[in-house]
Amino acid sequence: MVVFSVKLFFSILVVSLSLLFLLALLLPSSLFSQIHIYGEASLGEVDIWSVRRLVEWRPCNWWLQGHQTALPLQTNGYIRVDCYGGLNQMRRDFCDGVGIARLLNATLVLPKFEVASYWNETSGFADVYDVDYFIKHMNGFVKVVKELPPDIASKEPVRIDCSKRKGQFDYFESVLPSLLKHKYISITPAMSQRRDRYPLYAKAALCQACYKALRLTRSLEMKASQLLDAIPKPFLSLHLRFEPDMVAYSQCEYPDLSPASIKAIEAAQVDRKPWTGELARVWRLRGKCPLTPNETALILQSLSIPLTTNIYLAAGDGLMEIEGLIDTYANIVTKSSLLSREDFTSMHGNTKAALDYYVSINSDSYIATYFGNMDKMVSAMRAFNGLYKTLFFSRRGFAQLTSQGLNGKELKQALWKLHRDDFAKGRGSALSECFCEFKL
Ligand SMILES: *[C@@H]1O[C@H](CO)[C@@H](O)[C@H](O)[C@H]1NC(C)=O
Ligand SMILES: *[C@@H]1O[C@H](CO)[C@@H](O)[C@H](O)[C@H]1NC(C)=O
Repeated sequence: MVVFSVKLFFSILVVSLSLLFLLALLLPSSLFSQIHIYGEASLGEVDIWSVRRLVEWRPCNWWLQGHQTALPLQTNGYIRVDCYGGLNQMRRDFCDGVGIARLLNATLVLPKFEVASYWNETSGFADVYDVDYFIKHMNGFVKVVKELPPDIASKEPVRIDCSKRKGQFDYFESVLPSLLKHKYISITPAMSQRRDRYPLYAKAALCQACYKALRLTRSLEMKASQLLDAIPKPFLSLHLRFEPDMVAYSQCEYPDLSPASIKAIEAAQVDRKPWTGELARVWRLRGKCPLTPNETALILQSLSIPLTTNIYLAAGDGLMEIEGLIDTYANIVTKSSLLSREDFTSMHGNTKAALDYYVSINSDSYIATYFGNMDKMVSAMRAFNGLYKTLFFSRRGFAQLTSQGLNGKELKQALWKLHRDDFAKGRGSALSECFCEFKL
């Protein structure tokens, strides 16, 4: 009897252990990826892109499925969107303008791309984007014309100010009456508008315009694809911003810069002086300070991005302190190093920005050190194309960790955790209303 129970006990033990073992074998992916996401020992073992993601951003279905509401037969008038600033800011405002035109049942004329002083050029909409492609792909979403009807063609549009910043800007109340009265108006969309309250057909027009109907002109796309071909693969596109004007504008204090950089920043300071003392510290903790190339290299290393990685530097020509990055990551290429000299010097600001955009939506991975208009546009286009290796560095996280006195391995570990969680949860990418979160 006793012998029997012991035997039984052992059989049960063996069976249970085998079952446990089997279970462990069958579940490795979920178990181990949990460890990758939440474990302690991940730094240095895998790079950031191997972290298992929990969510992914994709174009929302209501937009991809098209435009359920038929366009009205009669137009309420013609709208021209006037866009200012850098290429990606103009694009953002134009996309918003398309949504507004549909909201008001207006017909869109081609936008005016105002050339900001620093572009030093005359690159308009048609110089950057393929007009016929745009019109064709907006079919059914909103009416677009190249030419105005003769009775208003000779007029300049009446400019309607949409810049009111308080609360929701109401286009029905403030713009529609002027549109109906003048028949031809120009607007620059307000930042504060509540696009999430638009009816779906207006949002769909915005999304279609921004992410499907805008394509670079054929000649620009050819140039861009030559550039893309010339970059060693696979590669990371790194959007680094550390130019004198934007650093001056940030009002941040950087104690360790070279004398040349300090001079350049001072020259770019018009009326804003950098904060000092406690104010500078608080400002930095709020994530207001651009990351230096030095800091960028450190964060890249924290994410286990190999030092041999091919990096395309999507940046302007005026980057300061770039040695801070190049000393660590040596395989760096830029537009100016890859394009022929005459190509490069004949190229205008908008065109150069378009090249960086094109390379960045086609790169294996994309990292932005600053969350600007280009980063928003690129991350959305990458999501649209199913490219998920996209990450924004956390300036605020970096400031907070370093202010706690962390450094060396400890700092790297903390930076890893922070960005690993952002990446896994799709956080920080702040995609617009055209994209929806899908659980993976
Ligand atoms: C615009 O057209 C839609 C139908 O496409 C209609 O429901 C809406 O009331 C119209 N709005 C204006 C301001 O004309
Ligand atoms: C870059 O980092 C090195 C060491 O990590 C430091 O000595 C140097 O001052 C830093 N430069 C800047 C501009 O922060």
